[in-house]
Parts: sequence; C-alpha cells; structure tokens
Amino acid sequence: MILNIKNLLLENFGTSGEPIQSFRAPARINVIGEHVDYLGGYVLPAAIDFQVCVSARKNSIGKIQLYSEQYKEVATTDKPIYDKSHLWANYVYGVVEELIKNGFEIGGFDMAIDGNIPQGAGLSSSAALEVVTCFALASLFQFEISREKIALIGQAAENNFVGMKCGIMDQYIVANGKKNQCILLNTDTLEKTYHNLDLKDHEFYLINSNVKHSLQDSEYNNRRGECESALKKVKTNLPRIKNLYDLPIDTNLNSFSFSGVEIKRVQHVMGEKDRTNILLKSFASGDVFTAGKCLYETHDSLSRLFEVSCDETDFLVGMLKEKNASGARMIGGGFGGSILVLDKIGNRQNIEEEIKKSYKEKFNLNATFYGFQISDGVSKLQ
Ligand code: GLA
Repeated sequence: MILNIKNLLLENFGTSGEPIQSFRAPARINVIGEHVDYLGGYVLPAAIDFQVCVSARKNSIGKIQLYSEQYKEVATTDKPIYDKSHLWANYVYGVVEELIKNGFEIGGFDMAIDGNIPQGAGLSSSAALEVVTCFALASLFQFEISREKIALIGQAAENNFVGMKCGIMDQYIVANGKKNQCILLNTDTLEKTYHNLDLKDHEFYLINSNVKHSLQDSEYNNRRGECESALKKVKTNLPRIKNLYDLPIDTNLNSFSFSGVEIKRVQHVMGEKDRTNILLKSFASGDVFTAGKCLYETHDSLSRLFEVSCDETDFLVGMLKEKNASGARMIGGGFGGSILVLDKIGNRQNIEEEIKKSYKEKFNLNATFYGFQISDGVSKLQ
C-alpha cells in the first residue's frame, strides 16, 4: 500500500512538484465506555492495525487536489466548501477549515488517500482520515501541533463541517494510540493513562455486521440532544453537576422531571460508569470472566436503554453468548457496524462458520470476522 500510495499521487497529479511525504493513521476499537465521550465519561479505546494511508505534497496553484483510491474519484477545490458529490473529501476540507480558524497557514496541496479500514463498520475510518490529514498538513506546512490538538481539530472538523456531533474518543485514540496498549481517557479533562490489558488465555476479535443504517448520523445527534436535555433537568436540582456522567451511581432518577426516553438514556450512562469501574478492576485482578460479562451488559444497555443497536448486531451478540464467547458488544456509534468479541483463544475456530451461516440465513448478509493487533497512533511513513 505504501509504495502504491505515492504512485497514486503521481498518476493523478503529475510527477513534477514539491517532495512527497506519506503518513498513516489507524482504526480503533473501544473496550468499554460507549456513548459517554460527549458526556464527560471515561472511555477505554485502542488503536488497531487497519489503516488509512496518504501521500501529500504542497502545490503552487493554491488548490486542494484530492484523490481517493476507494472511490476512484478526484475532488478539487480552491477553499473548503462542503462537497455533496464527494462526501469523503469533506473530512479533509473540514480539517483545513478548522486549521485555518486556528490561525495555521495552509496553502495548496495534493493528496492521495488509500486504506483498508472498512467504512461504516464502526471502526472510525473518518477519524483516521481527519487525524492523518491534520498530521500531514502540519508536516507539509511546517507547524508544531500537539497530538491532543490534532484530535481536537479532527473532532471540530467532524462536528462543524461534516455535521456529526461526535465526542473526542475516536480522534483522540487515532492520534495518541500506542502499540499493545489502550488508553483510559477522561473525556472531560483529557487526562489519560495507558494500560496493558492482561487477557490471559483470551483474545479480542471483531465481527463486522456489514450493516450501516442511513439514519446513523441523525440518530447519533438525537441521542446527544436527549442527554443534553436530561443534563439541563439535572442542573435545576443539582447546579454543580457539570456532566451527565458526574451523577452518582446511586442517584434516585425519579427526583428529576425526566421524560421516559431521558430516564433510559441516563440509566445507560450511569450503568456504563459502574461497568467501566468493574471491568477495570476485573482486568487488574485477572478476572477475565467478569470483564466479559461487563461487555455483554454494555451491549444490552446500548440496545435496550440507549437504543443504538439493531436486530443484526443483537443477533450476533446473542449467538456469541449461546456459543460461550466470554463477552461481546457492539462498538462505536451503533445502528450496525462491528461487534468486539472477548473469547478464549481457540473458540473462534469452533464458532465462526456456524455464526456466519446462521447470520446469512437470517439476514442475507455476510458477517466478516477480523483478528487485529493493537497498534500505534498516527505516524509518518519512511
Ligand atoms: C462514534 C463517535 C464517538 C463516540 C462513539 C460512541 O464513534 O465518533 O465520539 O461517541 O460513537 O461511543
């Protein structure tokens, strides 16, 4: 992919010009802490070895010229304007716009993009593109920018330019990931600690449901709105509470004027806080069984209380439970996407074919299994 990415740039935008530089950024998983990163909660993501690669160089025509190998499309513009016919290009344009807003000088550039992060699989292909773009532009236009700021620029691009009101988790882990480690991130303060989870005789793997519902982004924004309105109600009684996640786990939810929907959302958030603490303690004491149980409980909560799952992912998690996987849950925004599985090494081989077959029979869809390694965050390629 690396050799080819340079060639893609040369083929599409010519061989003469400034020196070419290449970069890569990873996909991510999240072990626990789902739908809490816009509520000041703790998340436990890790970068994984699927990646987006870009080659880029400055140009002297003052334009942004992009080529996507996945879409086999070129997109060009004089300045960042939302492009309805090349949706993928907006992640790049959004980053340029946010960098300019922050006072960085960005001139014209050419960029070729390739990668193997399955799109719509809940593995953050969009955050990877935002972060790699920001990292590449800092190198091309020679300005200093911290990894934390890169993550914030990526999130702002997604919030303001793309219109998806995501939290900070995805961009943060893509920018700051480290090989074999996950990050426990406080999304309120951005304090982080790196952890090496001891899986004992277990492993993680992923199953892509290959479902992407079209309402994904709007439903995501709705959930965020519901949590914001719940927080307003909390603040009328408890003005010191800054984030929904700060509510003590034993709070009596009937003391607020929540709607039925709001109660469910808040129950998810409080349950997730509890499960995150339990999971961290379980891994620390080598109790992988209890950690796995937390994953199943999180899935159940995302499905019943936060209502971001779907029949297909519920079915896959149900089958994994039946087949004695130690834990499993949907990850990321939801409404399809991928399942993270925690399983005894060796069990995957026993159950993979049967799960694929049953899933195909029921939904006429393929379930794709992936193994992965925990990898480094964004970096420059030599
Ligand atoms: C998406 C968003 C993240 C986070 C997850 C859910 O991946 O981009 O910010 O909210 O959903 O935890």
